[in-house]
Amino acid sequence: MLATSPIKPGLEGVIASETRLSHVDGQKGELIIAGFLLEDLAPYAEFEEVVHLLWHDALPKRTQLAELRAALRPRRALPAATLGLLRQAAEQKVAPIDALRMAADTLSIHSDGTHEGDALLLLAAFPGIVAAYWRLLNGHEPIAPHPDLDTAANYLYMMTGSAPTAQQVRGLSTYLNTVSDHGFNASTFTARVIISTQSDMISAVVGAVGALKGPAHGGAPGPALDTVFEIGSPENAERVLWDKLNRGERLMGFGHRVYKVRDPRADVLKAEAERMMLGSEKEDLYRLAQHVEQVALRVLEEHKPGRHLQTNVEYFTALVLHGLDIPIPLFTPTFAIGRLAGWTAHGFEQIGLNRIIRPASAYSGAHGRQWQALETR
Ligand code: COA
Repeated sequence: MLATSPIKPGLEGVIASETRLSHVDGQKGELIIAGFLLEDLAPYAEFEEVVHLLWHDALPKRTQLAELRAALRPRRALPAATLGLLRQAAEQKVAPIDALRMAADTLSIHSDGTHEGDALLLLAAFPGIVAAYWRLLNGHEPIAPHPDLDTAANYLYMMTGSAPTAQQVRGLSTYLNTVSDHGFNASTFTARVIISTQSDMISAVVGAVGALKGPAHGGAPGPALDTVFEIGSPENAERVLWDKLNRGERLMGFGHRVYKVRDPRADVLKAEAERMMLGSEKEDLYRLAQHVEQVALRVLEEHKPGRHLQTNVEYFTALVLHGLDIPIPLFTPTFAIGRLAGWTAHGFEQIGLNRIIRPASAYSGAHGRQWQALETR
């Protein structure tokens, strides 16, 4: 094997570029989004404000926010080609995340050929695609977007047909903001690689959705909630969790490659889940989940002493999205709606750098082979 510099499998620790968009500090347990600590931004901002912040490196003024809203509104209705594809996908019961990836591709038909236009088109259409697909999958007709509602509220509206409460909109906005960006994660890096070839924003986002789909990236919150349901009652927690660990399984929603002291996203979403679920008919589930978390942390400390395995974003994602009545199969597509803010912002940033991402590889194959005609092999 020949290599001029050490091989870093998975590019771990390799700094591929500067970014002004977000900073993940695993030792401090901090996430900075364009200068703001996550906890000082996510619970307060509207999703469109975070999009503007990431795209333009400043919170929008009133007129700028109005402009962004006005640009999104006419792009929300799904094109006929997109709806047609979703209908066919629903007939085949395609997974929602695959339907989202395929539907995102169809938006190219309506591209105005600019990166800005494509980013707006994607941002406007994603919630409608996910909501329409879920309805079609369940035998219902899609609901047209509401002209007066923004991204978070419209997503919930298009799912059910009734206007969400202010508390629900706040809950979803906090979630979307919390997952809006997270350094050079796999899907974001995928988007940057694609756009670095001077490809287009829609291609970059389609690739990013494909990367997000994998269980090592965006697929964990469903199983985390399943574990809480499986436990069902506080006295079962210890036994069920130990059974899983003794079978060699990992406890979903715990541990993180980068965050070793705390996952700040988990803290923000825990506060949101508490606000939404305490005093509601889901209070019992919240209290059970809280108990399961405490037992899991204790059990993990006994199982892997000194590793400090902590609760991660996925555990409380599951509770917040369940609190909003978003079904488990839509957890990853909903993550995609939030992360789209980051994908597109990274796309703009990468275009500005105008440098193709092209790492080197170390050749480990054979040398000196001689061509042999087919009949003599
Ligand atoms: N349950 C049980 N054991 C766990 C664990 C979990 N959730 N997370 C880590 N461990 C174990 C590992 O197996 C490892 O043990 P080993 O050294 O004996 O092999 C040890 O704890 C240390 O693991 P660490 O290096 O800190 O984790 P990682 O970087 O390899 O993996 C994750 C990070 C996120 C992949 C891992 O924690 C995980 O699989 N968590 C569950 C899935 C999940 O919630 N994913 C969403 C992440 S946002």
